[in-house]
Amino acid sequence: MPKNILILKGSPRERGNSAALADRAAQGALAAGAQVESIYLHGLDIRPCDACELCAENGNWCIIEDDMLPLYPKLAAADAVILASPIYWFTFSAQLKLCIDRWYGFQEVAHKQFGIILTYGDTDLYTSGGINAIHTFETMCRFLKGEIVGIVHGSLSNVGDVEKHPELLQQAYDLGQRLAAEKNDGR
Ligand SMILES: Cc1cc2nc3c(=O)[nH]c(=O)nc-3n(C[C@H](O)[C@H](O)[C@H](O)COP(=O)(O)O)c2cc1C
Repeated sequence: MPKNILILKGSPRERGNSAALADRAAQGALAAGAQVESIYLHGLDIRPCDACELCAENGNWCIIEDDMLPLYPKLAAADAVILASPIYWFTFSAQLKLCIDRWYGFQEVAHKQFGIILTYGDTDLYTSGGINAIHTFETMCRFLKGEIVGIVHGSLSNVGDVEKHPELLQQAYDLGQRLAAEKNDGR
């Protein structure tokens, strides 16, 4: 069975740096035989969690009827999820946070593999706040009993900057290949 990889793109810039790296990861995964689907979150109506706790009580989907509903079966079916985001205000984007908050009681998102792609305008992982996003994803994966297979991050600002960084594009391609190939021991 080919591995099923879901990519969640968290930037409002559909052709921005994190999206370009996510697309390159998709190419790597496809070349290694995986099935890949990419979702551009910015275009979706995903409302914030309202803390009703029903999902936690039944271990299931959120009851809010919005564009999150079709994402639940895609998340459940995915072997691996790539989270791609720009750094906004020293962590990942609100678009991605809205989506992840809605996984609160959703048990089928446990035991997945994850790939992380982050881009930031500042010069390094610490001053940019990229480290905060990584810390959140690591904590999240511990809670979900998931595994982070790889993290690609880089200092990039304007749309198109990523094309001047073939090393980052290669890292993203390799991440896609690894996610397609590596067995998920947690499942
Ligand atoms: C609202 C906003 C907030 C930002 N906050 C940060 C930040 O805290 N740290 C940083 O290094 N870059 C910050 N940036 C720059 C972006 O992270 C950077 O341009 C990134 O490459 C954009 O990714 P994208 O092309 O995928 O949209 C910010 C940009 C915007 C528009």
